[in-house]
Amino acid sequence: MERIDQIKKEFFEHASQVSMPEQLENLRVRFLGRKGKVTEAFSLIKDIAPEIRPRFGSGLNQLKKELEAHYEELKQRLEDSAENEDMLDVTLPGRKTFPGRKHPLLKIADEIKDIFHSFGFTIEDGPEIETDHYNFEALNIPKSHPARAMQDTLYITEDVVLRTHTSPVQIRVMEERKPPIRMIAPGRVYRRDTPDATHSPFFHQVEGLVVGESVTFADLKGVIQAFAHRMFGKDARVRFRPSFFPFTEPSAEYDVWFNGRWMEISGAGMVHPNVFRAVGIDPGKFSGYAFGMGIDRVAMLKYDIRDIRLFFDNDMRFLRQF
Ligand code: DAH
Repeated sequence: MERIDQIKKEFFEHASQVSMPEQLENLRVRFLGRKGKVTEAFSLIKDIAPEIRPRFGSGLNQLKKELEAHYEELKQRLEDSAENEDMLDVTLPGRKTFPGRKHPLLKIADEIKDIFHSFGFTIEDGPEIETDHYNFEALNIPKSHPARAMQDTLYITEDVVLRTHTSPVQIRVMEERKPPIRMIAPGRVYRRDTPDATHSPFFHQVEGLVVGESVTFADLKGVIQAFAHRMFGKDARVRFRPSFFPFTEPSAEYDVWFNGRWMEISGAGMVHPNVFRAVGIDPGKFSGYAFGMGIDRVAMLKYDIRDIRLFFDNDMRFLRQF
């Protein structure tokens, strides 16, 4: 039993000196290791008189537990103080701050705004949460019309929707202002779409609207051609294809050729008389054209990006390239 007391005393003496991980490891090896003093003492059991064997055995077990507990405590203490030292190490170099940069879609939106601004267009804004009236009804898309099925809408209530396009901004502007009007309205739009390489439940459009006394389809083509040259360079080509939209007649879609491929970027057309009537503009006196361009599409074509989801993943390796 004296031997037990002695080991304990020695252990605590050594332990009180421990201030570094190597010392702690030495302590463990010396007392608790495979050839340590405690293990050694266990091997004495077989030589001890049977009457006191149980007492010695349980004394040793007790000792082992106590030393192990103290060892764990010391280990924890060392780890904690190592962490504290890290926090207080004033000699470490400072962390570089990352200044951030514009998202590629914002950059493209800014370029689009600059170009149309230089053509004399105003830049307008509208709500992303819209009423059925502005998003559909006033755009000549009545409730029963099959064209509603063209847009998979996210409804908030029966009358309130996440806007499916930027076209409602046309209505809001025409309600407030008399012609001549020359505006664009960039922004986010929403549709009930499953994400894949070319679909996202939200994306970005820029609406365009020009209303005046003798605005023609030729004006539309000229402006889009000029836009394409400014955005993509002199080699870019534009082609119009016939299409259908309830709020334009005639309607078209146009594609831009750039960097070896055609990409559909927009719908367009001459403002439908019913749309003018909905906002109290006389379709006998005024005419106009409109377009709704996909900002994400323009960015994908310009930067040769093949998957729209990359814009919204927020992967820095992608975003840093722009
Ligand atoms: N709003 C249409 C869409 O999201 C795009 C569009 C087509 C807008 C023709 C227009 C237009 O202004 O004239 O599919």
